[in-house]
Amino acid sequence: MYGILLLLHLLGAMIWTGGHIILSVVILPKVLRDKSPEQLLAFESVFEKIGMPALIVQIVTGLLLAHRMLPDVSLWFDFTNPISHVIATKLTLLALTFGFALDARFRVIPALCKESLPVMAWHIIPVTVFSILFVVAGVSFRTGWLY
Ligand code: HEM
Repeated sequence: MYGILLLLHLLGAMIWTGGHIILSVVILPKVLRDKSPEQLLAFESVFEKIGMPALIVQIVTGLLLAHRMLPDVSLWFDFTNPISHVIATKLTLLALTFGFALDARFRVIPALCKESLPVMAWHIIPVTVFSILFVVAGVSFRTGWLY
């Protein structure tokens, strides 16, 4: 069971983080150069179909893996425990990702136009950075970087 959870978690990480890196490094510069909200919306509508299920898989498997590591949930924010540092980092990144994603989805995207593309860029870039930090935090369960 542990192996399957970890495998699903890693597959989800590949899709979520990999997709955001492609969005930030390949799609976004072209969208800003061409001043083309249409290109961005076209990528978003395709990526949404695989990216959102991947994020849900991350959250479910991540919570189960965290529960397996530290079954007492009240200790997840007890910073005397090194594992809590990493779990709390992951949950904080999740809250930040939600904040930016909801603001983009309900405020920025419905009114997306050439002029608001930079605002959208300032949502995409932080969410990409958070997605990479999720991986750094994940790896640090083994390496102890955040302990
Ligand atoms: C998009 C979001 C996320 C990404 C990209 C991500 C990525 C990763 C990666 C790359 C690992 C390393 C696995 C290994 O060492 O083999 C990992 C481990 C882990 N992640 Fe996440 N993660 C995400 C969200 C979460 C969430 C929301 C939680 C819940 C607190 C979580 C909890 C864990 C745990 C407990 C491990 C350690 C698994 C183990 O080695 O037993 N993750 N994550």
